[in-house]
Amino acid sequence: MDRIITSDELKEDIFEKNIRPDNLEEYVGQSEVKENLSIFIKAAIMREEPLDHVLLYGPPGLGKTTLSNIIANELHSNIKTASGPAIEKSGDLAAILSSLEPGDVLFIDEIHRIPRFVEEILYSAMEDFTLDIIVGSDSSSRNIRIDLPPFTLVGATTRAGDLTGPLRDRFGIICKLNYYTVEELQQIAMRTSRVLDCPIDEDAALELARRSRGTPRITNRLFKRVRDYALVMGNGNIDLSITKLALDKLKVDELGLDETDYHLLKSIIEKFNGGPVGIEAIASSIGEEQTTIEDVYEPYLLQIGLLKRTTRGRMVTEKAYEHLNIPYPIKK
Ligand SMILES: Nc1ncnc2c1ncn2[C@@H]1O[C@H](COP(=O)(O)OP(=O)(O)O)[C@@H](O)[C@H]1O
Ligand SMILES: [Mg+2]
Repeated sequence: MDRIITSDELKEDIFEKNIRPDNLEEYVGQSEVKENLSIFIKAAIMREEPLDHVLLYGPPGLGKTTLSNIIANELHSNIKTASGPAIEKSGDLAAILSSLEPGDVLFIDEIHRIPRFVEEILYSAMEDFTLDIIVGSDSSSRNIRIDLPPFTLVGATTRAGDLTGPLRDRFGIICKLNYYTVEELQQIAMRTSRVLDCPIDEDAALELARRSRGTPRITNRLFKRVRDYALVMGNGNIDLSITKLALDKLKVDELGLDETDYHLLKSIIEKFNGGPVGIEAIASSIGEEQTTIEDVYEPYLLQIGLLKRTTRGRMVTEKAYEHLNIPYPIKK
């Protein structure tokens, strides 16, 4: 079974598409990002120019894909979607760029995963709307330059630090998405309830929100599971007791931690004396990929102060010992 509180997209998340807000007004939270984008979008429309290129970054499940679709909607533009890992050769990117129509939004998800030598094609495309490519091979090869229509690139990444300087510098608008507050996630749960026409009590929505690790994707996924419990064990209405029961059965605790988080924190405590310990050692001790730990588990644990990052590695905090009910060692 997939980890219920993973913020990665799972196959079942097709249902996400139906509950995605499609305009800025309905997009909950991230108020600073929304305010800025709304001004820049209005100005671009008034000037009849394409919006500056936008970079969205932040942990998975916080609404990057949703926001890029909203940007295209608000611009009354079409969106074309590509994904960094699928762009392997210069030709892949050249094909995408040459299919653009004037005013299009090109959304590239996981943009940090485009290979460097391919990425270079983006520089002139973003800056001057031109495509410089080499055609032919060896002796007969030559450079050609193709004009592209004006377009807006929206790039999304979980790892802004992995972007090269030249690429990052070509984005006029850079937006960081933050973890959502419990109140915002509660609003998202209430919204999902309306869209799916499945009633939820306010206190139940709050409980769901508290255990969602600041992440709308998790709120929606837990909503769906709790809805099943309500249907089978109750009368379909999602109330607080059904919600608590379901979340306990799903082993999602009051802070939204699941078994993997416990495993991670406990191994640092038990095998590395609470740290500091390097990320590679943690990864091999719990059998997870280093990047998964860095992108998915760790950011939330850092955010809620159960883990801290020092120059010598990761350390489990006193708060984590308390949460796990393990006595905090007095260190000399
Ligand atoms: N600000 C928001 N308001 C309401 N729902 C949101 C918001 N951000 C994300 N969601 C919900 O969470 C789900 C995951 O968002 P998504 O854009 O796919 O995240 P990301 O691309 O950052 O991984 C979406 O299906 C959407 O329903
Ligand atoms: Mg996405």
